[in-house]
Amino acid sequence: MSSKSHWEKIYKEKSPQEVSWTQEIPTTSIEFFNDFKIQKDDPIIDVGCGESKFVDYLIDNGYKNISVLDISENAINNAKKRIGSRSEFINWIICDINEFEPEGNYVVWHDRAVFHFLTSQVEIDRYVRKVKLNTENFIIGAFSTFGPKKCSGLDITQYHEPSLKKLFVDQRFSLKRTENINHITPFGTTQNFIFCSFSSKK
Ligand SMILES: C[S@@+](CC[C@H](N)C(=O)[O-])C[C@H]1O[C@@H](n2cnc3c(N)ncnc32)[C@H](O)[C@@H]1O
Repeated sequence: MSSKSHWEKIYKEKSPQEVSWTQEIPTTSIEFFNDFKIQKDDPIIDVGCGESKFVDYLIDNGYKNISVLDISENAINNAKKRIGSRSEFINWIICDINEFEPEGNYVVWHDRAVFHFLTSQVEIDRYVRKVKLNTENFIIGAFSTFGPKKCSGLDITQYHEPSLKKLFVDQRFSLKRTENINHITPFGTTQNFIFCSFSSKK
């Protein structure tokens, strides 16, 4: 099964309460986002949004230039339905992140539990290059080296601060914040995530 058909099936057949990654409020993402103190019309992208309520937080707090990307059209349609008429102001992008060609630069690029699905060095390097070329600030949440080895039945790459730093820190990007977080799934199990944020040096 291709990655796209895997995700289309998940979002067709399962409710948010039936998938491990659901959060009622994406607290850590919001806290990391608020570190940046950006303008309300600065461009923001949530990559691999699924049905995350991070976008709801952005809308509720007056951000006006929001893009949301996912490989699954079903995920995007479910999110649009939940958000209702306010979804008209969002730039919805149905696309595989491996093929995504950003049209402009973002001030914040957020990724929770998407980058970790890239397991080949070619895909990882391509994603890192895209982030570095196309955003000023980057928030990444991925399964940590204390976390699960699979997500949604698929192999993932685990990360810790040194491995994320090795990929994302360079002459332009520095590490801003790191936290290990225990995510409690809707089934009551625990998944350890590493969250890091990176910012371009001014
Ligand atoms: C584990 S879920 C996390 C969803 C969301 N970020 C959250 O925190 O609730 C992974 C998401 O990434 C999307 N995804 C997986 N591979 C992708 C790819 N290659 N390109 C774009 N989206 C992808 C899936 O459709 C799914 O919505």
